[in-house]
Formats: sequence, C-alpha cells, structure tokens
Amino acid sequence: MTDTTDTTDTINTTDTTGATGPTDVRRGPAPVAFPQDRTCPYQPPAAYDSLRDSRPLARVTLYDGRVAWLVTGHEAARDLLADPRLSTDRTRPGYPATSPRFKALRDRRAALLNVDDPEHHVQRRLLVANFTLKRATALRPAIQRIVDERIDAMLAQGPPAELVNAFALPVPSTVICELLGVPYADHEFFEEQSRRLLRSRVPEEVRLARDRLDAYLGALIDRKLTEPSGDRVLDALVHEQVREGAVDREEAIALATILLVAGHETTANMISLGTYTLLRHPERLAELRAEPSRLPAAVEELMRLLSIADGLLRQATEDIEVAGTTIRAGEGVVFATSVINRDEGAYPAPDTLDWHRSARHHVAFGFGIHQCLGQNLARAELEIALGALLERLPGLRLAVPAEEVRWKPGDTVQGMLELPVTW
Ligand code: HEM
Repeated sequence: MTDTTDTTDTINTTDTTGATGPTDVRRGPAPVAFPQDRTCPYQPPAAYDSLRDSRPLARVTLYDGRVAWLVTGHEAARDLLADPRLSTDRTRPGYPATSPRFKALRDRRAALLNVDDPEHHVQRRLLVANFTLKRATALRPAIQRIVDERIDAMLAQGPPAELVNAFALPVPSTVICELLGVPYADHEFFEEQSRRLLRSRVPEEVRLARDRLDAYLGALIDRKLTEPSGDRVLDALVHEQVREGAVDREEAIALATILLVAGHETTANMISLGTYTLLRHPERLAELRAEPSRLPAAVEELMRLLSIADGLLRQATEDIEVAGTTIRAGEGVVFATSVINRDEGAYPAPDTLDWHRSARHHVAFGFGIHQCLGQNLARAELEIALGALLERLPGLRLAVPAEEVRWKPGDTVQGMLELPVTW
C-alpha cells in the first residue's frame, strides 16, 4: 500500500545543491528500502549489510516512496538522539513514517513519545518516580510471583506449550496492569487493540483500535475519579493531576495508553525472541545456566543484539551538520537501532552474542529525552523471566524445527508470533 498524499519532505535524489564532497551521501548508491523483514529473527535483514558501509548516515526509501536519512553509526546516533533540533511531533507536515500505521494517528492526542519539550518534560516528570531503578527493584518480588505462577501453569498443563501466549505475553501484561491499576481481567481486549495499534497496516483498523482503547481507558479514569485513590500509577495521575485540573482527561487517556501499550508488548517480544535466541545458542545457554549471575549482562547483550524496536522516527526542525553532511530542516530521520547497535567501532565482532563484552551504551531503549521510561522495569522483568525459564525448565527446547517458528514482520516491534516449546 502506498500513500502519496504527503510528499513535502521527499528528498530529491538527484538534487546536488547544498552539501557536496565525498561524504555527501545524497550522491551515493540508490537508497535501500527501510524497513525490511528479517530472514533470521535475531539478525538484521541481509539487505541492511550495505548500510554498514555507509556509516554514520545512509539514505533509505520508506514504504510511501519518500527518501529519509537513516542513522547507522553509533556515535552519531547518540549525538542526534540527544539533539533538540530533532522533533518527535508527528503532527508536523512531512513527518516520516515507516508504515501507514504511523500516519493513522497523526490527528490523535499524543503523549510522551510524540511530544517535544517543554510539554514532554512536564509529562515525563509526572511519571518518572514510578519507573526508577529503586521502584523496579521493589517490584521484583511481585514480578517473581507472576513469573512463577505462569511457569507453574505451564508445568501443570505441559509439555508442550506455546511460550508467547503461555508466558511471554501474560507476564509483562500482568505486571503493567498491577503497576498502573488496570484490571488484568480485561487483558484480551487491550492486548488485541495494542496488537492492532502496533502491527496493522490498515489505517482504519489502527484508528478503531485507538478509539476503543481511548473509550476503555477514559471509562477507567472516570471510575477512578469517583473512587477513593488506590496506590497505583493511574490512581495517582487521576487524583493528583486530573482532579486538580493540571492534566485534562484527554491527556490522561493518552498517557495511560502509551504506558499500557508500551508496557507489555515490547517486553513480551524481548522475552520470546530472547528465549528463541538462547535456544539457538546452546553453548551460551549452558554457560548462563552454570553462571546465573551473568543474567544482567546477558539481558543487556540480548537487548543490543536483538534491537527489537528498529526504526525510531524523527524530523529535523533546523539544518544539522553530521560528519560532513547536512540534514536539512524538514527532512525525516530514522534510527536503525539494529545497525547502530552493531557498529563495530563500538562493539567488536558485533554479530556475536557475547555477554563478556560491555553492551552498555546500546540504543535499544533509545537515548536522549525519549529514552525508554520503562527500561528499569523491562530489565527486571527480563532477568526474572529468562532466569526462571532456565532454572525451572532445564530441558527447555523448541518443539518444532527452528525454520518453522514464525516471527514478526520488519515494520513492527520484532518478536515471535508463536514459540512452540517442550522440556
Ligand atoms: C524490552 C522492552 C522495551 C523496549 C525494547 C523498549 C524500547 C523503547 C524505545 C526504543 C523507546 C524510545 C523510542 C524513541 O526514541 O523513538 C522507548 C520509549 C518509551 N518506552 Fe519503552 N521499551 C521497552 C519496555 C517498556 C516498558 C516496560 C514500558 C513501561 C511503561 C515502556 C514505556 C516507554 C515509554 C512511556 C516511552 C516514551 C518515553 C518518552 O518519550 O519520554 N517501555 N521504549
């Protein structure tokens, strides 16, 4: 499907005005299409190989035919993600999109991710205390309980099991419900709407999913307004901010939506894809079983290697000079985390799963003001979930040949569609 209605930021690929010289990638080879499907779920698509040779910037063609800058170098990525001249405001004319899905919600209220400072800073300040390392550490016993209950159920019913629906999805979904104060009993409804928001390529379906989530979370917020405050994140938001008039109802719904959606789907994908990747590296798996103290380093390295959120979107509000090239005001900028996190200048032997290296400073959680609000929580969930799987299911293995396991298309957050396992 091609949407050609909005062409304001199309870079004329034959245009040689402006930046010149050997580093002017406008004169380089024909742009690669971005994003593409992976051919192995834990490796970037082979078609991105050529992008490694054009660090730190390349040109790519997006699904709608537009050309955008693709950031591929690690140092440039961290500089640019921290640069206030790059906006995430998706209402700006010419804002880039890697799927029709991203344009479908342009007119809907955004919170955090698609809001620039100073408004972004105000919203982030409202929530940040709930997502500190200290808070994530305090949540560990509750996360452990949720993980253990799911493994108990798998042991009671299996083997075999389908790990995405039996474990990878319900664990973060239950955790975020308990943290926010959303009834887990409604999980089938909100998981389905989230799936459509994050995966559908049909704009109408995306808008409908957002309408349904807005109505659901709006009703939840209204209910919380009439009840005494509990101690969950949305209770505090409603009683301290909405009731006082500091945050309006629509903004509260937008905040609740991003927390609920980002809070379960991404971590679920990391649990399923992380498990698959470990099962495909038996020597690493054995090492981790022998030395569980390596789990935090293993999680960080898996985050780097898998880079499941690949293709962060921005638009330049002013001209920006990068490594001898000028990104012009209005041009779209996309961050290929899967390529950036395999920059061999930052990570020697970047395609190897090796948690003895330092994977720190990867950009799998983003960087700068929009760096993942839930990263401490996600790390705690991943360490506990992967650690418990290894400890309690020592014979864990794929229940079907590896080639038969299906994973998600390239224009979504990467992960497994299903993961049949046995033990
Ligand atoms: C392994 C799991 C996760 C991954 C890979 C991930 C990835 C990311 C990335 C890459 C960004 C930055 C996007 C950009 O700059 O364009 C981001 C932002 C965000 N994430 Fe996560 N995330 C994960 C888990 C979570 C969890 C558990 C929450 C819980 C609420 C969460 C909430 C958010 C929010 C609210 C933002 C926007 C922050 C802002 O704009 O200030 N994420 N995430």
